[in-house]
Amino acid sequence: MRVTTTAVLLATVTLLAACDDKPTPTPASSPSVSAAPSGGARALTSGALPHAAAAPVALAGDAAEGQRLVEQYECSRCHQGTGQPAPKLALDCVGCHQQILAGKFPASPAKLAEWKPHVAYYQETPSLEALGRRLEPAYLVAFLQRPEDVRPHLVPSMPRLPLSAEQATHVAAYLTRGERPKAQRLDGADPAHGRALLENKSCGSCHEFSGVAPLTARPKPGVGSEEQQRAIRLAPDLRHTRDRWSPGALVEWLLEPERVKPGTLMPSHSLSPAEARDLAAYLLTTPLEPPRLKALPVRLPVLSRRVRYAEVVEQVIGVTCRHCHGDADLTLGDGGPGNTGGFGFTPRRMDLSTYERTNAGLLNAQGERESVFAKLPDGTPRLVASLIARQREEAGQVDPQVRGMPLGLPALSAEQVQLVESWVAQGRPR
Ligand code: HEC
Ligand code: HEC
Ligand code: HEC
Ligand code: HEC
Repeated sequence: MRVTTTAVLLATVTLLAACDDKPTPTPASSPSVSAAPSGGARALTSGALPHAAAAPVALAGDAAEGQRLVEQYECSRCHQGTGQPAPKLALDCVGCHQQILAGKFPASPAKLAEWKPHVAYYQETPSLEALGRRLEPAYLVAFLQRPEDVRPHLVPSMPRLPLSAEQATHVAAYLTRGERPKAQRLDGADPAHGRALLENKSCGSCHEFSGVAPLTARPKPGVGSEEQQRAIRLAPDLRHTRDRWSPGALVEWLLEPERVKPGTLMPSHSLSPAEARDLAAYLLTTPLEPPRLKALPVRLPVLSRRVRYAEVVEQVIGVTCRHCHGDADLTLGDGGPGNTGGFGFTPRRMDLSTYERTNAGLLNAQGERESVFAKLPDGTPRLVASLIARQREEAGQVDPQVRGMPLGLPALSAEQVQLVESWVAQGRPR
């Protein structure tokens, strides 16, 4: 059983590995946050610039409180550029996977080779460096409360954390502290020329742009150098640009990405200022088709054949659940955020590492033990409801009551949910 092996190893490694400290925290400079007021774009076509049109947003977030929250929610377990020190290796979700992929993790070559394919899809997240010169604070406030999938070739997405609206405002103030981009007007810019540039510069070799006529160049995930593949995973779908960027920030970014965010994988295309403005005009104003959300999978009827625990482990629990609902005894007390707590969640003590522990349930909001198989008012067992809630989240139907599982990872297929539901319906045979 691969996950248990990992857990044992985690314990060993925590003892061996000293924390590899990343740069010391950057001090929070200016706590004040306000989106740069932007000029209108009357010379453009009829499409209005979302941010240019809106009045300047002033968020009353407190950056110092935001910094405290970023620590409390352990954002640095998944992100660089948070201004927090790197976590211990045993807590560093992305860092540990990266070490395994780079062959730097202290384990035998055979183990590393066995693990590599399984960590491949959780190897990176966008760094949060210089967010104040990039994303709009108002977008961040909304995104933190209800994350959307921005990067089509990056498998994990930002998890839905228990941040309140007020907390999200503080966190956004902290993340966008410091220098803000200058406001710019895009009057006279030529979106049609921007579209031509998008083609000529092969922006589509890394970026999807859903909702517009397809670009000729297409990202080819899994092809090309390691760096090219990383760039494709980290490249956002350009349909979101208008929600995320002000015109001023976008023009600066297109001119010199490396100057805005050192270390970024977005290359400089040596554009002239006029070209950057034309590109920005196209990105921000071209009409978009409505987003195509994933269809909600049908709920399959329970199986009549016998389903045993081992099959549920092999198909579901052992595949994505155990890193977050693990055995705390084997990992020096950290059973993952779904067990011993983390990412701002209180310990729910839900351990999926063995048959007995799975049956021991979890702590409810009152701190009492409850079964994860207890039926909700509509008759769905709680565990199954969590899996369906994730399918719904991907279809754009976020349920404020039930958090989708696996948290921040792709929803299970209809067949996987059917397997779990059948096992529960059959009285959970061993
Ligand atoms: C100390 C190293 C380490 C840490 C920390 C770590 N992982 Fe992993 N992770 C692994 C290894 C090793 C595997 C491959 C397991 C295998 O092949 O048996 C893995 C695999 C996975 C998988 C793929 C499913 C699987 O088990 O094959 C997911 C999902 C995952 N990890 C999520 C996380 C999350 C989320 C965190 C943070 C809460 C995390 N990991 C922290 C080492 C780590
Ligand atoms: C379990 C890992 C995980 C944790 C914990 C996590 N994030 Fe994320 N976050 C991600 C992933 C993956 C993405 C990329 C999602 C995408 O692009 O679709 C992301 C994206 C983001 C983005 C958008 C950045 C961009 O350039 O698009 C912001 C901002 C962000 N996270 C902030 C936070 C903050 C603040 C916290 C702590 C409160 C946090 N994250 C905790 C995994 C995590
Ligand atoms: C080699 C791959 C690659 C190419 C080619 C490329 N980009 Fe990017 N682009 C990226 C990556 C990676 C990011 C994310 C940068 C980061 O967060 O560090 C990005 C970010 C962006 C963003 C910000 C999106 C957001 O929502 O945050 C825009 C806009 C953008 N690119 C436009 C372009 C345009 C226009 C071109 C062509 C002139 C282009 N890119 C060419 C890789 C690429
Ligand atoms: C990235 C970490 C992560 C992964 C992966 C994950 N969980 Fe969770 N899970 C959590 C956290 C954190 C909580 C506590 C949420 C809360 O308190 O609101 C939780 C809570 C739950 C709950 C209780 C929900 C409730 O009713 O309050 C269930 C059931 C659950 N997880 C099932 C699963 C299953 C099944 C999988 C694998 C398919 C899985 N989880 C994968 C982190 C994770």
